[in-house]
Amino acid sequence: MQVIDHIGIAVIDLEASIEYYRKNFGFEVELREELPSQEVTLAFLKLDNTRLELLAPLEPGSTLSKFLARRGPGLHHICYEVKDIVEALKDFSEKGFKLIDETPRHGANSTLIAFIHPSSTEGVLTELCQYQDRSS
Ligand code: CO
Repeated sequence: MQVIDHIGIAVIDLEASIEYYRKNFGFEVELREELPSQEVTLAFLKLDNTRLELLAPLEPGSTLSKFLARRGPGLHHICYEVKDIVEALKDFSEKGFKLIDETPRHGANSTLIAFIHPSSTEGVLTELCQYQDRSS
């Protein structure tokens, strides 16, 4: 687990945030996706060595809405790419980490993802992802 796949940033207005990063940093959108099951709409911005994931809530009562109400916009999570997410979750579980997802779920960009609770990870909400269409 040596690669940061992306850094998640919670935003209120996805369009405004995309424009902000395009105008001020020159980051371009690589992918946009709505994940109704997670009540988020998102955009991945391509950087040379990683990506930013801008996340905005789809529903007022969603988990992300509550996060924004509590903390305001800003850093939300870090995602590390793993080769085998089931194995990685088993490993973290055995080490006593508090998992938000006991089993992987479908994320954006044909990935399997799972979150580890920030109480286990020194305050950083941590996402693991595995690409299903490549073996890296
Ligand atoms: Co993410």
